[in-house]
Amino acid sequence: MSRSSYLFTGIFGTFALSCLALVVVPQVQIGNLQPQVDPESGEAYPIANARKGRDVYAAEGCFYCHSQQIRDEQNGLDIERGWGPRRTVARDYIFTNPPFLGTMRLGPDLTNVGTADWRNEAKEDPRKPARRNAAWHYLHLYQPTSVVTESNMPPYRYLFDLRKIGGERSLDALNVPTKAGYEVVPKAEAKELVSYLLSLDRTHPLNEVKAPAGAPAPAK
Ligand code: HEC
Repeated sequence: MSRSSYLFTGIFGTFALSCLALVVVPQVQIGNLQPQVDPESGEAYPIANARKGRDVYAAEGCFYCHSQQIRDEQNGLDIERGWGPRRTVARDYIFTNPPFLGTMRLGPDLTNVGTADWRNEAKEDPRKPARRNAAWHYLHLYQPTSVVTESNMPPYRYLFDLRKIGGERSLDALNVPTKAGYEVVPKAEAKELVSYLLSLDRTHPLNEVKAPAGAPAPAK
């Protein structure tokens, strides 16, 4: 063989090997993951939900500041911080394409923001409600400092309408000071985004991951 064909074989081999190790092997291992079905109740996890709200989450760039991944105990303090009872694994993300794993954490991880039942109450910030409902999220999106005084999350006011009150106040009107005779109500995008946030719950036990000893038991 000539020297150039050695070089060619070397370069080709390097690319072929990395493609095999980084694309083919992972695809075989986790490419066809299906939801885990409980043999007794027939209940499946995860399920596909709140797709529209997920699109709003992506469009607004929430993932620039928020991650959605819980690292195991050896690789980080996520579980100790109370962000989840167990690490997240590939199966948690089979219906989220793309998965919003996130690269930066300017704000807290949102993997399980839809549930707070597993939270270790002792570590929970007493100023925050134990379980966040839609009303909390609307206020927080409209004006983060109204619920978390020192928050530096940007407000998303354009997801809300200032509407003249005709007759009775709307049920979902925000409890914020505004012009007399007007009310602040969430737009469709805000409603979809909040249903997405409330659907975020990856506390369901999975066979491939053990909850670390001493972690609070998941809510279901
Ligand atoms: C510039 C960074 C930044 C962006 C972009 C951002 N956030 Fe935040 N977020 C924060 C910070 C910082 C906090 C912590 C302070 C607070 O609770 O307000 C936070 C807190 C939160 C919380 C409360 C979580 C908890 O467990 O306390 C939620 C929910 C949230 N953000 C949702 C969103 C959503 C939805 C979007 C997109 C519409 C978004 N954030 C965009 C920085 C950001």
